[in-house]
Amino acid sequence: MSDPATLSVRDNRTGRDYELPITDGTIRAADLGQIRVDEDEPGLALYDPGFVNTASCRSAITFIDGEKGILEYRGYPIEQLAEKSTFLEVAYLLIHGSLPSKTEFDNWVHEITYHTFVHENVKSFMQGFRYDAHPMGMLMASVGALSTFYPDARNIADAENRHMQMVRLIAKMPTLGAWAFRHAQGKPYIYPDNELSYTENFLSMLFKMSEQKFGADERLVRALDVLFILHADHEQNCSTNAVRSVGSSQVDPYSAVAAGVGALFGPLHGGANEAVLRMLRRIGKKENIPSFIEGVKNGNEKLMGFGHRVYKNYDPRATIIKKACDDVFEVTGVNPLLEIAQELEKIALEDEYFVKRKLYPNVDFYSGLIYEAFQFPPEMFTVMFAIGRTPGWLAQWLELVQDPEQKIARPKQIYTGERRLDFTPSSERWA
Ligand code: SDX
Repeated sequence: MSDPATLSVRDNRTGRDYELPITDGTIRAADLGQIRVDEDEPGLALYDPGFVNTASCRSAITFIDGEKGILEYRGYPIEQLAEKSTFLEVAYLLIHGSLPSKTEFDNWVHEITYHTFVHENVKSFMQGFRYDAHPMGMLMASVGALSTFYPDARNIADAENRHMQMVRLIAKMPTLGAWAFRHAQGKPYIYPDNELSYTENFLSMLFKMSEQKFGADERLVRALDVLFILHADHEQNCSTNAVRSVGSSQVDPYSAVAAGVGALFGPLHGGANEAVLRMLRRIGKKENIPSFIEGVKNGNEKLMGFGHRVYKNYDPRATIIKKACDDVFEVTGVNPLLEIAQELEKIALEDEYFVKRKLYPNVDFYSGLIYEAFQFPPEMFTVMFAIGRTPGWLAQWLELVQDPEQKIARPKQIYTGERRLDFTPSSERWA
């Protein structure tokens, strides 16, 4: 009887047997390399487009159970953090691995508060974009540009330096995001107000006009803080994988996070919240839902905001966001698209096509309704996601940098092209 913690494999091409160790529910892909027909041939490798069934790292940051709809940051259930914590406290937890003491938290908040400004040249850089530049394109570019203002950030081996750059990124993302919004609106850029809390300061940079002091309804500030908490991390999602992959080359964290912003921009990932709102607007009224659903079943549409690689049950964040809608709509009035969203969800949850594919609302389905209630244009929705996800990206980047097992990301391929063709110079080819 083989050791239960191994996989017995027989290669029928050679009749040879192999025992592969099983650790934490995985086998090491490298162990497949010994399985080969001839010594001078490469051994077996894994083929897994989109890494659907491949673990890329060991991580202690976020735990997800997709079947049970469980999400925990450093072991704390998302429901408890959303109800009892704040975004900056959650950011500290994700990065440092434990909840802060009062002194630690006060220092953390102070550091972030006093690093919200950016170099004036960043402002001129952002003013160079076209009037209709997408805010995510502006955010990706300006985050990458920050690496040129802090060349020390390339010294990723130094713990104090890493800490300083992470503080700067968390502090400056709202400033860059707000200025991208103001740029699109043709309004003057508003500087940070260090007397305001992190989230209220963000709202001030977004919406302050001629008033002396910006003030937001506490319910809106709290709802946005909760949304940031819900978006803060989500284990090895597409954009985090991008941050880790780029970070594995030992580049500075600004360049790695800029890659994450780029990945998040995609409509299958963070760009879905913008796509949800455009979808709801396109449906327009409840009577149009049945024909839209038919379009989805025929493959002509995607039900944006539904489905998830991991959650094959309700996304716990969608449940919490749905509740946050009520708080926001108490202040702003109900978003008329909410009724269409709720009817769409009701139909989808009963329809065999969606039930069979385990398609439930994800984090992006309701968040767009809240952002629209805040008067954000759809192009800004993913910027909100990026601001919330920054501490998670940085926690994952830090874990990568400190992981002795990690090395530069360089996957294999299955080559399907031509081989050993004879080259004919263009002078002969075109003669
Ligand atoms: C986020 O990974 C993360 O953790 C991401 C995220 C995070 O916090 O970082 O949670 C944030 O990105 C949430 C997801 C936001 N994206 C959307 O809402 C876009 C719409 N959803 C999909 O495109 C899709 O569901 C994905 C991309 C989210 C997941 O895709 P998978 O896991 O690769 O699943 P799949 O594409 O293989 O789909 C399986 C089946 C297919 O049907 P068949 O080919 O088997 O017939 O389900 C269908 C798909 O066509 N399907 C959908 C659908 N999603 C999947 N059909 C209609 N509408 C959809 N939304």
